Amino acid sequence: MLLLLHRAVVPGLRQACRLKSTPSRFCIQACSTNDSFQPQHPSLTFSGGNSSTRGWRVMGTLLGLGAVLAYHDHRCRAAQEPPHIYTREEVRSHSSPETGIWVTLGSEVFDVTEFVDLHPGGQSKLMLAAGGPLEPFWALYAVHNQPHVREILAQYKIGELSPEDKAPSTLKTSDPYADDPIRHPALKINSQRPFNAEPPLELLTENYITPNPIFFTRNHLPVPNLDPDTYRLHVVGPPGGQSLSLSLDDLYQFPKHEVTVTLQCAGNRRSEMTQFKEVRGLGWNAGAISTARWAGARLCDVLAQAGHQLSETEAHVCFEGLDSDPTGTAYGASIPLARAMDPEAEVLLAYEMNGQPLPRDHGFPVRVVVPGVVGARHVKWLGKVSVEPEESYSHWQRRDYKGFSPSVDWDTVDFDSAPSIQELPVQSAITQPKDGETIESGEVTVKGYAWSGGGRAVVRVDVSLDGGLTWQVAELDGEEQRPRKAWAWRLWQLQAPVPPGKTELNIVCKAVDDSYNVQPDTVAPIWNLRGVLSNAWHRVHVHIAP
Ligand code: MTE
Repeated sequence: MLLLLHRAVVPGLRQACRLKSTPSRFCIQACSTNDSFQPQHPSLTFSGGNSSTRGWRVMGTLLGLGAVLAYHDHRCRAAQEPPHIYTREEVRSHSSPETGIWVTLGSEVFDVTEFVDLHPGGQSKLMLAAGGPLEPFWALYAVHNQPHVREILAQYKIGELSPEDKAPSTLKTSDPYADDPIRHPALKINSQRPFNAEPPLELLTENYITPNPIFFTRNHLPVPNLDPDTYRLHVVGPPGGQSLSLSLDDLYQFPKHEVTVTLQCAGNRRSEMTQFKEVRGLGWNAGAISTARWAGARLCDVLAQAGHQLSETEAHVCFEGLDSDPTGTAYGASIPLARAMDPEAEVLLAYEMNGQPLPRDHGFPVRVVVPGVVGARHVKWLGKVSVEPEESYSHWQRRDYKGFSPSVDWDTVDFDSAPSIQELPVQSAITQPKDGETIESGEVTVKGYAWSGGGRAVVRVDVSLDGGLTWQVAELDGEEQRPRKAWAWRLWQLQAPVPPGKTELNIVCKAVDDSYNVQPDTVAPIWNLRGVLSNAWHRVHVHIAP
């Protein structure tokens, strides 16, 4: 709420201050839609210099109120005055903090200099549009095309484009998602463009291996449509060495390695964090996790062929996807070289998912699979691999997918101060029964999944029917896990009598991994502004049929 207020009022206040304030005098006027600033409208003049506390308090109140009204006044005037006319050339010349940052939408021109820091998607995203039209970006991030976003933007309007310049921009504004694949109707969609969806919980744990069509999908950009015949993976060689340009057939020549791996998005269960306190990000439920049998070439074999070796100094393997935004910026991420070169870590350049070529949504024709590591590093539509002394400079490596203290907010966050998420913490969730469901009395069957990062095996899942007062141990199903290589989840279930006389149950689960890590009991101590790493005890409230 505060954020919304901040967003709506602060820019107005700033604008009002620029337009109206003088050090010792502050004049305010209210206007109606048909007024022309005649003196009969409420008017108030304040002279500074009164040193009494009451005077200061009054001044503060009046300044605040005055600024709001002055802003309103400014907008009223703006609505009545003929709009300023700007050429595209003029708009183009306003593309930096020094010149001011202008953008256009349709024929309207906006000065968003003051808004750049407030942009929920980050400054850098808005700067991509600086000096030009917003349409190509709004087409990409369809979340913008909503009345409240247009309302916020309207506050920054400074004029209109000159009639000669109103012709459609030369930038491609056609729908960049038009070529996205068709998806399974069972998927619960969190955002259509880019496409982000999770399987419904009742289907998620029906199978140990998640069927490809309902495997959760996390895309940041449109899905590229790549031709397998011309596809090449560029592997940059070491200094002085040779780079490789590998076709799919070349990749098939490496020993084929298969491994069952669970992928989990850092934002899985974010919606529970949002319930506690607002966070920025898609509202994932507990289904941003799925398991597949992946096959491909081991990354360590490909890197070795390119002449790379383990290095004494810190090094990272950087991956670049072939999906990109309108400026050509590709999705990217990196993992430490030590993990990439370790045959036991089983990092794959995967070309098969559950015995099929990768589906387009999941990275066709080649993606990285990094067992035990957060989904963000499993780069899809892989185009380039290089070994660098530093982590990837991608936004998604450096400015996202990091955890912070609950005390850190968007004004204080310092992304450089936190490590990028790699191995994820222990996780579990209940998939049956559903929250709010009415179940039969007698016996209850509770089902769910449990997983831990870094190859740590799940050794136990505890289930409580009374909100955590008493616990029962669930039965673990699914494949046996190899020591230090427990890359995939365990499904689990518990059949237990419903305590007589109960009208409702507060079902809770928590998993324990083989390092005896356990999930925290509540969200509050792990809340973070991006809503990542949400792994508190999972809770489901059910009613018992009378
Ligand atoms: N790779 C590319 N090229 N583009 C992306 O948007 N999303 C990442 C990762 N790899 C992404 C990507 C994120 S955040 C996650 S969680 C996983 O892909 C999701 O993989 P999936 O869609 O196959 O489930």
